[in-house]
Amino acid sequence: MEPVVAPTNEEEVEAWSGVLFDRWVQFRDVVAVQINPFSQEAYRLCEPAPGERVLDIGCGLGETTVQLGELVGPEGAVVGIDAGERFIELARSEAPERGATNVSYEVGDIQVADLGNGFNLAFSRFGTMFCTNPVAALRNVRESLVPGGRLCMIVWRRKLDNEWLHRGELVAERHLERPEETDEPTCGPGPFSMANADTTTDVLKHAGYERISAHRYDRDYRLGDDLDQAIEPVMAIGPAGELIRLAKDDAERLRDTLEAELREAYADCARDDGVYAPASVWIFTAVNPF
Ligand SMILES: C[S@@+](CC[C@H](N)C(=O)[O-])C[C@H]1O[C@@H](n2cnc3c(N)ncnc32)[C@H](O)[C@@H]1O
Repeated sequence: MEPVVAPTNEEEVEAWSGVLFDRWVQFRDVVAVQINPFSQEAYRLCEPAPGERVLDIGCGLGETTVQLGELVGPEGAVVGIDAGERFIELARSEAPERGATNVSYEVGDIQVADLGNGFNLAFSRFGTMFCTNPVAALRNVRESLVPGGRLCMIVWRRKLDNEWLHRGELVAERHLERPEETDEPTCGPGPFSMANADTTTDVLKHAGYERISAHRYDRDYRLGDDLDQAIEPVMAIGPAGELIRLAKDDAERLRDTLEAELREAYADCARDDGVYAPASVWIFTAVNPF
C-alpha cells in the first residue's frame, strides 16, 4: 500500500524522496555525522530514559534513532518515521550492522500518518520544518504521546546566525535568480521555517502543547577538511543548493565563478583541523498535557 501523504506535502516529499535523498547520502558525513553535537545538546535537555518509548520524527538515515535506542536501552524502543521511502529503506538495512535491536522504521508523512500511541518522547533533529501545515503535523505527533509525554525538536535559527549556509546563499544570489516556474520539486517551507521562536511557540500552542521552551544553542559546524570540500555541501543543499539546482544550466555555466567566490566567502572559517562555520539552533521542548 502506498504511504499516505498530505496533498500539500507531495512536492516536499518528492524532493526528499529524490534529489535530497541522493545529496544526504553523498554528504552524509556533514549532514548526519558532524551535526551530532546538536543532538547531544538536545538529549541533555530531554533526557531519554531507560525503558522509554520514543518516536524519532523525520529520522532520515536513522543516526539519531540508533542513538536514542542506546539511551533508552533494551527495555525501551524507538520508532523512526520519515516520509522518504529511500531514507527508511537504507536506515532499515543498516540497523543490524549498527547493533540496533530496539529500533524500527516506518514510512509516513507526520502530518497525516497514523503514528501509533504510547510514546514517552517525540524527538526530531531538523525533521519538522518541511510540512506545509506544522500545526496539524505537531498535533498529530502530540496525539501519539502519553499524557505528560515530551516533545524535543531541533530546528535552525535565523539565517544570519547560520553562516554555514547563509554565506553560500549570498554568493549564489549575486549571480542567480529563482525561476518563476520550475518542474524541480522544492523542500516546501524549508529549513528556516521554524526560525522565529515566537511563531514556533504559537504553532506548538495551537498544536496543544504546554510548558513550551526554546533553548538557543550556537556552535561552529564542521563542513569539511579544506575549503574545496567545505563548499561542496553548501552548493548542494540548503538555500544556495536549491538556487543552483533550480537554475540548472545557468548555474553550470557559472560553476567556476561560484566555486571561487564560495572559497573566498568561507576562507576565514578554515582552521588547521578543518573548515568550521557558525551555526545556531533552537531546541524546543514541550509537554503533552495530562
Ligand atoms: C533535514 S533532514 C533530517 C534528517 C535526520 N533527522 C537527521 O538529522 O539526520 C529532514 C528529514 O525530514 C523528512 N521529512 C520531510 N518532510 C516530512 C514529513 N512531512 N513527514 C515525515 N518526514 C519528513 C525528510 O525526508 C528528511 O529525511
